[in-house]
Amino acid sequence: MEDCTFVIFGATGNLARVKLLPALYHLDVAGRLPEGLKVVGFGRRDWSDESWRAQAQEMFAGAGNDPAVVERFCARLFFFRGDLGEADVYPALRDYLSGGQFSPNLIFYMAIRPADFGKVSRHLGEVELNRENGGWRRLVIEKPFGYDLESAESLNRRLNQDFEETQIYRIDHYLGKGTVQNVLVFRFANLMLEPLWNRNYIDHVQITHSEALGTEGRAGYYDGAGALRDMIQSHLLQLLTLVAMEPPASLDAESLRDEKVKVLRSIRPIPSSAVNAHAFRAQYAAGQVNGEQVQGYLDEPGVPQDSVTETYVALKLLIDNWRWRNVPFYLRTGKRMEKSNSMVSIRFKHPPQQLFRETQIERLKPNWILLNLQPHECIRMEMQVKQDGLELRAETTRLDASSCGINPSQLDAYQALLLDVIDGDHSLFLRYDEVSWAWKVVDPILKLWATERDFIHTYPSGSWGPPEADRLFVRQDQRWRNLLEDEES
Ligand code: BG6
Repeated sequence: MEDCTFVIFGATGNLARVKLLPALYHLDVAGRLPEGLKVVGFGRRDWSDESWRAQAQEMFAGAGNDPAVVERFCARLFFFRGDLGEADVYPALRDYLSGGQFSPNLIFYMAIRPADFGKVSRHLGEVELNRENGGWRRLVIEKPFGYDLESAESLNRRLNQDFEETQIYRIDHYLGKGTVQNVLVFRFANLMLEPLWNRNYIDHVQITHSEALGTEGRAGYYDGAGALRDMIQSHLLQLLTLVAMEPPASLDAESLRDEKVKVLRSIRPIPSSAVNAHAFRAQYAAGQVNGEQVQGYLDEPGVPQDSVTETYVALKLLIDNWRWRNVPFYLRTGKRMEKSNSMVSIRFKHPPQQLFRETQIERLKPNWILLNLQPHECIRMEMQVKQDGLELRAETTRLDASSCGINPSQLDAYQALLLDVIDGDHSLFLRYDEVSWAWKVVDPILKLWATERDFIHTYPSGSWGPPEADRLFVRQDQRWRNLLEDEES
């Protein structure tokens, strides 16, 4: 791996502190960082190299960390003081970076407000920090990429004026999660699944991401975004593509992303007259989470009293292709739910003949494959077997992968992604057409909801969301699966 300089715009912010520095540190511990990698923090605060290093020392010292590695990591940190809105700062940054102490391979990481992405890109272009003279340049963009289709297009146009597509890395941190990548391995390394993975055998698919947490001081961002933009347009649609895609020609970045785009393009558009039949939104009210009383969304600091921003979304999508036609994909996410969990649940159809009708079970329960992504990692199959005893009765048994459980060494998604940026691998980053097709899926819903500003359903914090969301199901025998341990009701 080549040496490089990792410039973080927004180095004094939350993302840098909570995700980027720890990920870089752990990569250093694992010996994965190039020796000459240096990190330049760009921020407005009155920090210096020394003060930033001292903070990092404090952050990583102790907890069984090797002092020599902490020392080595801190020596990589440099701080450049500046206001990213001021054009004069950029020539100074260019001179600083080209002064000889840094590798000419530059990564610019935008850990800043999305509204500033375009501005910083333009300023970098103005001082030719986008030009690959003597070293490569990479621009890393955090989500959200745009606010809707139109703003995403305009941001993309802006970035393309300054950077080539090959230089741009659009992050969706879900793709850095080992368990999410496991969806690909599970599907494409197990031949026995392929004949079943289609509309002939699968009744429906659920993708659920629930969180016990609320907005955690992010109301300023969240109230303008809402759950549909925050989770569905990005992470859950990405997960859907991995579950639904055709086998790619190879695992290189373009083949993989071509297949994901095909899925997104095949999602049946939702006309505004059908939004209510496909999407349901709600907002958390006060309630109890893990035995603690918590306030409702409207009482969170920074949330306007009349906000109708959704903290919960359930969405039904249909993919119009040979494999999936008429198989509903239910996507669901919510904050302040009973538990935090992410799971892909695949329900198979009933066997064509009810052979065991005489055995006092009304109907055989169908098979499920459950891919629990977090906090537990688990692959589970639910099968029917004969109950103990003289009767020929069936009951559900669970076949769990032996690796099920909490994986203590679970790598943070950012470690994998930052390593890929350093290595120049685009596979786990979003190509613009993916982003754009994902916006096309949710745009009609956003547009309609933007006009319906006087009412939103609520659900008590600590619940599994509003029961009204059940109306999305196309058949009466469909039910939400919330957690791995829940029996199908
Ligand atoms: C972020 C969203 O992208 O993903 C947050 O902005 C959400 O609102 C988070 O909580 C969930 O990520 P994870 O890795 O905790 O499942």
